[in-house]
Amino acid sequence: MIPESLKKELASRIAHGVTPREAAVDVMKELQLHYGWLTDEAVVEAAGLLGLSPLQVEELATFYEMIYRQPVGKQVIHVCDSISCWAMGGETMMAHLAGLLGIKPGETTADGQFTLLPCACLGNCGDGPTMMIGEKIYGKLTVPLLTEMIGWFRGAAIETPDSHSRSMP
Ligand code: FES
Repeated sequence: MIPESLKKELASRIAHGVTPREAAVDVMKELQLHYGWLTDEAVVEAAGLLGLSPLQVEELATFYEMIYRQPVGKQVIHVCDSISCWAMGGETMMAHLAGLLGIKPGETTADGQFTLLPCACLGNCGDGPTMMIGEKIYGKLTVPLLTEMIGWFRGAAIETPDSHSRSMP
């Protein structure tokens, strides 16, 4: 169950939305942040907050690629598989990531750190191939860059709280 403070915050945001459907993505994202993914419990809570049925929330959730209806890793890597990125080597980047992580697209690593997902255009077509990790977009991907980035993320996951001065590649 989400805390009362988050419930109040979301109710306020919904009140300022034009329609509940408009506020739905925001609410689903917040609940996803709270639970790690949009659990069945979160769907029911979102429906209650938005004045929609759980089925309506479910329908909206399945429409958005960045809303996860099953458990995902701490880092969700979305690799664009739309036409521009595909033409610039997106498929090779996805294959390299899958090899580095030891998983197939759609899967999560056994340690729960990474989930690898294909996605539609991320709006960074001119600088492809493109991927998104968390809310951040990374373009002009290359095999060496991906190797370095995954190494960085793996290292960051075991860093101590006082060693956050490293910067992302
Ligand atoms: S086609 Fe990949 S970001 Fe647009």
